[in-house]
Amino acid sequence: MKKLEQLYEGKAKKVFATDDPNLVIVDYKDDATALNGKKRGTIEGKGAINNMMTNRLMQMLEKNGVPTHFVEEISQRETVVKKVTIVPLEVIVRNVAAGSLSKRLGIPEGTPMRKPVIEYCYKCDELDDPMVNEYHITAMGWADEAQIAQIAEYALKVNSLLLRYFKTINVDLIDFKLEFGVTGDGTLVLADEISPDTCRFWDADTHEKLDKDRFRRDMGGVEDAYNEMARRLQIEE
Ligand code: TMP
Repeated sequence: MKKLEQLYEGKAKKVFATDDPNLVIVDYKDDATALNGKKRGTIEGKGAINNMMTNRLMQMLEKNGVPTHFVEEISQRETVVKKVTIVPLEVIVRNVAAGSLSKRLGIPEGTPMRKPVIEYCYKCDELDDPMVNEYHITAMGWADEAQIAQIAEYALKVNSLLLRYFKTINVDLIDFKLEFGVTGDGTLVLADEISPDTCRFWDADTHEKLDKDRFRRDMGGVEDAYNEMARRLQIEE
């Protein structure tokens, strides 16, 4: 596998072409942004932790029937993944009220909910990723009816599998964001990452935050939180 030219640089990752047209290499950075890029910083060691965590979780999900873009980890920060066209949606799943839901609905953070909530945001930095529903998504052609039904089904399945997994390391999964893509042969797969950048993790006993909210909210102890999640994940195996 040859690493060729850079195709894309995002806020937390770079993507490189390879000599196989169906595969790309993702390279995780230590750069951190919040508030849609308005707040910037570095979280030492984050790239390696997010690469490791994403790959473990994607392999666990794949084994349990959720197709993913994962192919092979090739270094501490780099992973070969299937080349996909990203569905331009942030698919958010929530188990406990927090973040923007708490703000929008006036419900205190930490309030349990009767069932998981799925939200969709249209991926568009200039518009600050506005929330949309299935009608917008199919009307604009971002996904068709079958795809959005499949996305919702996978999102709930990922939620059950992740809830069970994180319980074993004494972490409550409050909410998280997923992205999906379509491969060359038309298959819908889970893409992007699953990491402390994209999930809210609270210690199940102390409710201490073990995720990027520590960076977003200037709470300090950001690296410690990422390292603690990596430590718990590694002793789990
Ligand atoms: P929110 O409460 O800010 O809407 O975030 C919900 C979850 O989605 C939280 O775990 C963080 C994650 N998320 C991202 O990964 N990227 C984003 O751009 C946003 C807004 C949220």
